[in-house]
This record gives sequence, C-alpha cells and structure tokens, in this order.
Amino acid sequence: MKIDFNELIDGKPKRIEVNGKAVCVARLGSEVFAVADTCTHSDASLSEGDISDGKIECWLHGAEFDLRTGAAITLPATEALEVFKVIQEGTQISIEEFSENTMTGEK
Ligand code: FES
Repeated sequence: MKIDFNELIDGKPKRIEVNGKAVCVARLGSEVFAVADTCTHSDASLSEGDISDGKIECWLHGAEFDLRTGAAITLPATEALEVFKVIQEGTQISIEEFSENTMTGEK
C-alpha cells in the first residue's frame, strides 16, 4: 500500500488497509509509523484516537500504545499491536506487512 507523505498530517492518524488488514498510519514530524488499527483491548479504531509523545491513545478506554514498537503502555490494553514496515522514498510511503521471517516481538 502506497501513500503520499503530504497526505499525512503531523500528529493526525490515518486509517488504511494493507492486505485486508486495517492499519493506523501516523506521522510524527518527518517520520512515519504504522501499527494495527484495531486496539488489542477491544474493537476500537486507533486512527480515531489521539497522538502525543510518540504514543497513540485509544479513544474508547484510554489505553496507550508506543507507535514505534506497538507495545501496550497503559491499561486496559496488555497486548502489543502488530507493527507494519514503513518504507519512505522521497514523498512516497510504502506500508507493508513484515514477513514471518523478519517479524520482531514476542514468539
Ligand atoms: S478498546 Fe481500546 S482501550 Fe478499550
């Protein structure tokens, strides 16, 4: 999935789809991060939440996740979000799934 960097507003998450999965894309200054859009606590869309300090906050019950690692930082969420690969070439941003081999995080 490709998007244009200029479509992204700093600090305002955007929901896209990658291989049928909902993904929340967030721009922080000149960097772009992509994590699964569905909160691991329940069924809320994180792209409707707020970003601050490199974290995204779920609007439903207030869980916060680290946008770089997907880690759940505050309750009620305890499971990390899936993180997607972001490739930036000029203003073109490609968002892809990590393949199983390169998947990081818990086993
Ligand atoms: S659904 Fe996100 S914190 Fe509950």
